[in-house]
Amino acid sequence: MREKILAVVEELKRRKAEGENFVLVGEESVEALRRAVTVPAKKEPVPVASKTPVPAPAPMPKTAAPVFLAPEDSYAAPKPREVPRAAAPVVVAPGSDIPPPPVFTLPEGTKKERWDWLRQRVLSCPVCTAHLNPGKQIVFGCGSIDASIFFCGEAPGADEEEQGIPFVGRAGQLLEKIIAAMGLSRGDVYIGNIMNWRPQTGSEVGNRPPTEQEMAFCLPYLRAQLAVVQPKVIVALGNTALKGLLGKGAPGVTSARGRWFEFGGVPLMPTFHPSYVLRYGTPETKRQIWEDMMSVMEKVGMSVSEKQRGFFLPKE
Ligand code: URA
Repeated sequence: MREKILAVVEELKRRKAEGENFVLVGEESVEALRRAVTVPAKKEPVPVASKTPVPAPAPMPKTAAPVFLAPEDSYAAPKPREVPRAAAPVVVAPGSDIPPPPVFTLPEGTKKERWDWLRQRVLSCPVCTAHLNPGKQIVFGCGSIDASIFFCGEAPGADEEEQGIPFVGRAGQLLEKIIAAMGLSRGDVYIGNIMNWRPQTGSEVGNRPPTEQEMAFCLPYLRAQLAVVQPKVIVALGNTALKGLLGKGAPGVTSARGRWFEFGGVPLMPTFHPSYVLRYGTPETKRQIWEDMMSVMEKVGMSVSEKQRGFFLPKE
């Protein structure tokens, strides 16, 4: 084997002397050379092929054939072509592509005329429409436009965007029970939301709280409903409604409930959202909501019976 290698070296020298700069070596030859240089040489005497001492061949680099045996400067690997980088896709967070809040003036007229005008305005609002889930509806407030109590929720859910009416799902059924415990029905109060559309999540299931921009956009519509209805009291249902009305610096509902605040000159009572009660409600939270509702009843001049006073008290 050693003889063969030396013969190859001699042949390469001869070719180089004739001006050949490149030799293409096949994969098999590379492998054979590699084996030859890694197998320890036998003790047999090395025949002298020429008078000039022959240096041992350098180990072959472990690269795929073909391999160019060439002077370093005669072969330059082509520079990798510069591929222009694709522009990073612009990702718009849901609920952040919202224009500034609408500015409008309620027309003169009766309560009913003003409310009808406002409802039409919201139902035809291009921003609300643009943010609807496919095939779903804008949700405007409902109930009595002469109500003393204005319940304000967060945003429509799946059932509400389907029917175009606030609080018609499970949370709505619980809200109706609370209203019934007060001796009232849905038609006696006004029910609205901070948001007029269900915040998009990219999926049919699940809800997300509205963003600050979304709430800021819809707030003039809520203010206008309050201006038409002129309730004696607002009940803010849950954290989002509370912060949507009072600003993000508002306290959380757990610490704020039971205390009176004010929005646009109207007394405001925060309480737990019915959805919260459905998920995490305890006898204590139910009683706390009820105490908030008794305060509301008293504020609007309703009498609270002895029986009502005992609702949701722990059994002896
Ligand atoms: N939750 C809300 O806050 N509003 C609705 O209309 C329904 C559920």
